[in-house]
This record gives sequence, C-alpha cells and structure tokens, in this order.
Amino acid sequence: MPGIRITGSGIALPDKVVTNEDLAASLDTSDAWIVERTGIRERRFGGTTSGLATEAGRAALEAAGRTADEIDHVVLATTTPDAVIPATSPSVQHALGIRGGAMDLNAACSGFVYGLVTVAGLIAAGSGPILLIGAETLSKFTDLDDRSIAIIVGDGAGAVVVEPVDGPGGLLSWNLNSEGSMRHLLHCEHGSTLYMNGKEVFRTAVRVVVESAERAMADAGIGPGDVSLLVPHQANLRIIQAACQRLGIPMDRTVVVIDRYGNTSAASIPLALHDALDAGRVHPGDHLLLSGFGGGMTWASAVFRWDA
Ligand code: ACO
Repeated sequence: MPGIRITGSGIALPDKVVTNEDLAASLDTSDAWIVERTGIRERRFGGTTSGLATEAGRAALEAAGRTADEIDHVVLATTTPDAVIPATSPSVQHALGIRGGAMDLNAACSGFVYGLVTVAGLIAAGSGPILLIGAETLSKFTDLDDRSIAIIVGDGAGAVVVEPVDGPGGLLSWNLNSEGSMRHLLHCEHGSTLYMNGKEVFRTAVRVVVESAERAMADAGIGPGDVSLLVPHQANLRIIQAACQRLGIPMDRTVVVIDRYGNTSAASIPLALHDALDAGRVHPGDHLLLSGFGGGMTWASAVFRWDA
C-alpha cells in the first residue's frame, strides 16, 4: 500500500485586515486585553469559503508543480460551508478544473488532521494525488457585537497537495477522537451564530491536546525531543503555551501564526504549516507533530515525517 507525502502548499487570506484597535472602536475591549488573553493582534475578515479554498488550492497546485488534471480528488475541511446543500468542495473542484471526487469534511478545528488521515486512506485504497484544503469564513457565523467571541475568529484557507509514495510514507502515526457529550461547549445552530463556553473549551483543549499528542508520539516511537516542529491548532496562544509546557516541547519548536490570523478553525493548521515551510523551518527527515481540537468536541493528532 502506498504512503503519502506532501508536495506543495498554498494559502489564501481576505484582503481586509481587522486589528484589535479596529474591534475596540466598537466593542468594550482593548488591544492589551486581547493580546494578553489570546495572543491575537489582527485577523482577516471576508471572502467566501469556496473562494478562499479555491485560491489556496490553486497556490498549492502551483507549488507542487501539478496541474488540475493530475489531481484525483478534492477534500475540503470546513465548518463554515457556503451552503448546507450542496457541499462547498464541488465548487472548488469546478473552479480549479479538477475532475474526480469532491467532499467536505466537518470536524471543526480538527478538520485538517482528520482530512490528512482521510486522504492517506484514499491514497492507500488506490487514489492518485489529492488536494486537501482547510478553509473557513467564521466571521459570517459570529456575532461581531459579542466581545467574548468576535475577538477570537478569523477567515482564511490553507491547502496542500498530498501524493502517493512507495513505502510507508510520511504519516507515522495518528489518532482521531470525538466526544459528543461536550457538543454544548461550542456550537452554531442553523440560522444562528457561534456560541462558545471559552473557559471550559480552554480547559478541555489543553487536556485532550496533551493526551492525544503524547499518544501520537508514542505510536510513532518518538519523544518530545524528536519533534522538530509542533504545528498546533491556533485557538489561543495560552492554550498552545500550556500544551507545549506539558508536552516538553519548547515554544521555539512550535509554529505560531495566531497573532496575524486569529482562530481560523480548520484553516489554522495548514496556514501554520505553510508559514513554517515558507520560512524554511521544515527540512527533510523532520518530524512534525500536528494537533487540533474544536467543536464536537473533536480532537486529533498526527506525527508526519517530512519528505519521506
Ligand atoms: N475584552 C475585554 N474583556 C473581556 C473580553 C474582551 N474581548 N471577553 C471577556 N471579557 C471579560 C469577561 O467579561 C470577564 O469579566 P469579569 O471577570 O468581570 O466577569 C473577564 O474578561 C474574563 O473572561 P473569561 O471569559 O474568563 O476570559 P478568558 O481568559 O477565559 O478568555 C477566551 C476568553 C479568550 C475566549 C478564552 O476562554 C479562550 O480562548 N477559550 C478557548 C477558545 C477556543 O479554543 N475555542 C476553540 C475553537 S473556536 C472555534 O471553533 C470557532
């Protein structure tokens, strides 16, 4: 059975930059509070999920040196689709000129890790290259007059091309988890806006990320010292710091983009991965530890060896 490797990445961000000062102009909040409690300095608002996904997907294809007709499927992780029906991925597939299957995958902020494992399964079952995208327009589903949630969210997209490779490939270990009894902590009902019990999500997130990341490392036969880069979901800088401390992974081996993009749910891990690649922080043989958590609740981790 073939394994997988990632051959290119791309991102897309709305043009509109919204700073903390911009939010503080209409909300009872401040730049100092937002930076101290979340690490966020600015975020982007705007666009559509299909539009951002298409732009990120196109950039990833270009980076991988692939044309649309060489891609077998599109898998789009999103929790903010353009519509309930149809899924958003067929619009992306059509806009890019890709033939083959297209599916949306909703595992909230864990969506990209769920997507990577799903794509690995499709490739093991015989698929050729797949375009995997995480894209969100959370601002559309947020009450921007509610300071407890408006300050956290951001819009954007990140994409990777995942290709078959002879041998075991880069995905060394993974775990996918969910606990539906915690659905009430973070949800958005039809026609409504996002509700989040921030404190409880925070507490749960640190606990489950540490447990799942430790399990992924153990299953891959590595320890914290072997992790070249932690690429975590970007929900709150304090969650990342707390998880790093408990995992024994220093912050200088962790990718942080939340200061620029806010919490972009399923887009946050591919945005962070692209940032690390772009900055030359990823080298052949590196062990990347990806870990996400979010509504559901869901959580997931994977150890990925680069350029396997
Ligand atoms: N500006 C100023 N004050 C605020 C703000 C704000 N934007 N928001 C809340 N406050 C106030 C509260 O009213 C409260 O005041 P009080 O003490 O007088 O009652 C005080 O600040 C503390 O509020 P908390 O809610 O306890 O603040 P906390 O430190 O928990 O930070 C936050 C809130 C940032 C939301 C945090 O709980 C968090 O990040 N939680 C996790 C979020 C997350 O991971 N979400 C998962 C994914 S999100 C998604 O899927 C879309």
